Amino acid sequence: MFYITTAIDYTNGAPHIGHAYEKVLADVLVRWHRMCGEETYFLSGVDQHGQKVQQKAEAEGIEPLQYAQKVTQKFIALWEKLGIEYDGWAATSDPRHEKCVQKILTELRDKGCLYKKSYKGFYSVRQEQFLTDKERGEDGQFGPEWGEVIELEEENWYFNLTAHIPWLREYVTKHPEVVTPEFRRQDLLMAIDRSTNDLCISRPKNRLSWGIPLPFDPDFVTYVWFDALINYISFAGYESDGDESLPSFGKLWPAACEIIGKDILVPAHGIYWLCMLHAMGFSDDQMPQLLVHGWLNIKGEKMSKSLGNIVDPNELCDVFGAEAVRYYLVRDTKTGYDSDYDVERLRMIYNSELANDLGNLANRSLNMCVRYCEGILHRPTDDDEPSADLRKSLDEAEKTFAKQMDAYNTADAFGALNAHVSLCNGYIEQKQPWVLAKDPQKSEELQRVLYHLLESVAHVSFLLGCVLPEASARLLAQLQVDAAGLTPQTLTWGILPEGHCVQAPSPVFPRILTPEEKEKMAAKAAAKTAKNKA
Ligand code: MSP
Repeated sequence: MFYITTAIDYTNGAPHIGHAYEKVLADVLVRWHRMCGEETYFLSGVDQHGQKVQQKAEAEGIEPLQYAQKVTQKFIALWEKLGIEYDGWAATSDPRHEKCVQKILTELRDKGCLYKKSYKGFYSVRQEQFLTDKERGEDGQFGPEWGEVIELEEENWYFNLTAHIPWLREYVTKHPEVVTPEFRRQDLLMAIDRSTNDLCISRPKNRLSWGIPLPFDPDFVTYVWFDALINYISFAGYESDGDESLPSFGKLWPAACEIIGKDILVPAHGIYWLCMLHAMGFSDDQMPQLLVHGWLNIKGEKMSKSLGNIVDPNELCDVFGAEAVRYYLVRDTKTGYDSDYDVERLRMIYNSELANDLGNLANRSLNMCVRYCEGILHRPTDDDEPSADLRKSLDEAEKTFAKQMDAYNTADAFGALNAHVSLCNGYIEQKQPWVLAKDPQKSEELQRVLYHLLESVAHVSFLLGCVLPEASARLLAQLQVDAAGLTPQTLTWGILPEGHCVQAPSPVFPRILTPEEKEKMAAKAAAKTAKNKA
């Protein structure tokens, strides 16, 4: 079972391109595993509790739940637009989740993993959080961004995190697979060495009421991260008392891939989450694997409201189409590393790799097959002939694709397919089927060339199904290929049988025009109309 999850998104603001990248990455990976014939389960969702939601709801004069649900709808609508096919939806205000969190809290308290203590420290009234020395400026003072800072003493519940740190250090050291990429595991190991405090897991209700109440102390709600992390197991059916609306936990767990951004590896996932599971009694082989991606920045800068550079994926889908956005996100970002969002690159990558390379290859090959051979393909019988290089290139591209997808390197995986498509376009120029078609002596050669081209298009179109489901289905329909039952393993040379009939092409990847190109086209059309009238 390939159980894949993503971070659950905060419902205190609208989704942006960073959220979209994470979801598309997960969707592409899950479709790949499904394509390989594996059983898969994809959990996505929203993180609805916490101070910010409470504050925004207050500002709008509505209940926090109502506010969270309103924002949740924006995420759901975007995922639908982007073709994200998740199986389960984790919303932390769901009573099934609340019940599970409370059960876990009670069990941890009964085991002696939780304790209550009083803490005295500096507290920012504006930010509603305790400050540590890390927040002091160079002059040793707390800066104006914290507003009024007072000394406050407060009782809270704590999780004995430090008791699990020696285990965590050893576990992460001995299990390189726990964090991908490797350099992030090294970051985690360094952070573990700096981990010296237990984790405060409650907030007094008089300060924050929008959270899951502690079952054993009604004056407190659960700290939002402690609540949120549990979504990965609560919605996978952990301790669900046989609730049939949830999956069977034994079947799903441990998660094969929990996708998160680099900002939430330390301390949330790499330290709190693994220690929480350990405290609950999960063994080493029941730990999830974390896939940590980088950030999408804008011209090297973080996206932020204050810089006014937040990119709305809805607008991109409306302008370029969801599949262009999907392809760009996983093709132009090397998993694990930061990348710069750039609309010009989106246009360039789509136009060059999809419109020019694959689109042209498919159109020209189908067109020539219909024109010169009535749409009927003949499979060459002599496999040791001049086109062996093309078959070798396809075979290598498919192997690289599978290897890179299994390693989560989507950019290199799709790059490998594109390299083969470019080779096919070069092969057309080299073989010049339009010249072969003029010579009846060369009809066998012509058939061989067309067969090699269309067999390549069929393989590539099938594999692209994990990122471009619609375009892939359209291409396969034109090729008259039934993909049901096909897997990357059964995708061997010869899926187009002798005598196979293909359809005339209908373009799948219209070029994305720049505003200047659009203007020029409009002017040309207007001139033509004027000429016709005259
Ligand atoms: N609610 C927490 C996660 C709880 S998981 C138990 C959270 N939410 S978030 O909305 O701020 O971020 C959701 C995901 O989007 C995180 O994995 C985060 O790293 C990712 N991204 C947020 N901004 C991003 C970019 N600019 N680029 C890429 N991913 C980014 O954190």
